[in-house]
Amino acid sequence: MPRRLFVTTALPYANGRPHIGHIMEYIQADIWVRFQRLRGHAVHFVCAEDAHGAPIMIAAEKAGKTPQQFIAEMRAARQPYLDGFHIGFDHWHSTESPENVELSQSIYLALKRAGLIYAKRIEQFYDPQKGMFLPDRYIKGECPRCGAKDQYGDNCEVCGATYAPTELKNPYSALTGARPELRSSEHFFFRLSDPRCVEFLRQWTAETNRHGEPRLQPEVYAKVQEWIGAGGKGLADWDISRDAPYFGIPIPDAPGKFFYVWLDAPIGYLAALKAYFDSGKARANGEPSSFDEFIAADDVEQVHFIGKDIVYFHTLFWPAMLKFSGRKVPDNVYVHGFITVSGEKMSKSRGTGIDPLRYIELGMNAEWLRYYIAAKLNARVEDIDFNPDDFLLRVNSDLVGKYVNIASRAANFLVRYFDGKLAPTADPSGAPSGSAAVARAAAEDIAAHYEAREYGKALREVMRVADFANEHFDRHKPWELAKDPASRDLLHAVCSDVMHCFRLLTIYLAPVLPVTAERVARELFGMPRAFCWSDLAERQERIAPYKHLLKRVEEKQLDALFGADAAPATAAAAAATPAAAESKTIAIDDFAKVDLRVARIVAAEEVAGSDKLLKLTLDVGALGTRTVFAGIRAHYTPPQLVGRLTVMVANLAPRKMKFGVSEGMVLAASADDEKSQPGVFLLAPDAGAQPGMRLR
Ligand code: 2FM
Ligand code: ZN
Repeated sequence: MPRRLFVTTALPYANGRPHIGHIMEYIQADIWVRFQRLRGHAVHFVCAEDAHGAPIMIAAEKAGKTPQQFIAEMRAARQPYLDGFHIGFDHWHSTESPENVELSQSIYLALKRAGLIYAKRIEQFYDPQKGMFLPDRYIKGECPRCGAKDQYGDNCEVCGATYAPTELKNPYSALTGARPELRSSEHFFFRLSDPRCVEFLRQWTAETNRHGEPRLQPEVYAKVQEWIGAGGKGLADWDISRDAPYFGIPIPDAPGKFFYVWLDAPIGYLAALKAYFDSGKARANGEPSSFDEFIAADDVEQVHFIGKDIVYFHTLFWPAMLKFSGRKVPDNVYVHGFITVSGEKMSKSRGTGIDPLRYIELGMNAEWLRYYIAAKLNARVEDIDFNPDDFLLRVNSDLVGKYVNIASRAANFLVRYFDGKLAPTADPSGAPSGSAAVARAAAEDIAAHYEAREYGKALREVMRVADFANEHFDRHKPWELAKDPASRDLLHAVCSDVMHCFRLLTIYLAPVLPVTAERVARELFGMPRAFCWSDLAERQERIAPYKHLLKRVEEKQLDALFGADAAPATAAAAAATPAAAESKTIAIDDFAKVDLRVARIVAAEEVAGSDKLLKLTLDVGALGTRTVFAGIRAHYTPPQLVGRLTVMVANLAPRKMKFGVSEGMVLAASADDEKSQPGVFLLAPDAGAQPGMRLR
């Protein structure tokens, strides 16, 4: 029976470009979706941007735009990432949409009718200058424990203490610098502590899905039980409202109150699905029902792929919201770990190390990364690491050296001596023998691994079979058989066998390498369509001449991907322009958005734990002093820098890095190809320029 699946990935915030962490999640989900489709199941795979919330409102304001304009620009920037990595969402939507307003308000009203919403006055910091309540991340002050200055409202980066913003000494607003006042206002709460919720969540989290598999991975389940706590004491009620000004969805019958972004964000999954149905795309994909029928249908499975940082929202709030608004609850929430790059952790907002767009624009093959990530993924909530040397080795040895190698070698003999015709199998029953039989026998194991998101295991199995085929081929020394006319039948049998094996391996790899698999189907085997799982049982009769399938990763590509201009806190990295590519033209007002200033470096120091960064203190005249982390340590020593003038971007949003907050960036020049033209050269103005002067 074909399954009907509704699959999502987490909705990314609309104020940043996709980083490698997003791409990893999309690849994980996309492989699963493609596997299900390969097996003949119907999958509806959607995502959207998470548009609401204070940070996006503030970022838009800083950029001189409405939040709507701001998110529209981000949306336009996203498609090249999705296309570039072959992420096959059926629909991409936004939480800032009529569908989401309607669904969020109706789910809220249903929860209210169920007696799970109540109002309560709470006290919070308010910025009198800005006229708004301040989210924790916009309150700074001195750490109540160690006294460190300029710490955020919830934790100290110096001593690691966590606290409430009201405990900070000498608090100030990170938006205006004003001293915040405590003010009270009425908020709405979702009563997660209600015994009905606790009872339901206990049960839902412990249940298996309809296939007898646990809904949650064991480590996720254990964590969630900890949260629920003995006797359900652990679950606190959830503050779901925010006061104006806020970019969000208005709460019905509560003027000036908006849903907190995390209330309407997961509802965005449904909104995206609804928009996809309403647009007619679901019908075009073979789904005849309406959104309302589909989402309520018993046989439809709802599966969410998410990262380990948002488990609480997806395993407690979200199923409870659905349940008590009278809706169907998710079947599975699949949690993955983070991706580090050469062991370095990445920041949630901007990532680190690999710029996915740069990867594409450098001409690197997206399937390499899909393969590499898949080979590292398993069903557990483990972090994985992208290591450039390992990447090169694995892609070149597995994909090129093992998999592609089978076809390129066998095809040459088949075309040259047998006009592309494949020999019938040696087994009179028609069943595969030799390496094709080994490949065929692996099918159900490989399928089970994909199903369970054990992609690493699936690919190890594929490579085991590829090894077998290559050994089988080599053992028969076809290059010698070809010289002896009496060995023609054996030559034909061996080459046909490994070619049939290659075809099966291609079907197994299709979820990971969709483009290559499709080319193999059409170009090599002359099929009118892409492969499906039932093609495993078929045998092809001929092949076309082999066309080159996959290139090797070259070291210089990795050098370009990780070149110094891709290091954090330089303008080149943030601009994400491809090396050696021409820049697109921009209008003068695009340029004017960048606030470039002359700055004097008043202090420079090495950053313990980073061999790339120097911490610079900049005097920017009327703009005060700024701290900037610059990736120039390999090129300058602190004494070379102190006292000199340079140029900085003064209106970059402050960025929290591992070592502190970077409040802008300094400008430096470097060649696209740093290997042949090494060096990073800091900009400096002519004599007479003063700190704070504008560049225009
Ligand atoms: O953590 C995040 O990036 C959120 N924007 C994820 C939201 S997922 C869903 F709930 F919308
Ligand atoms: Zn501290």
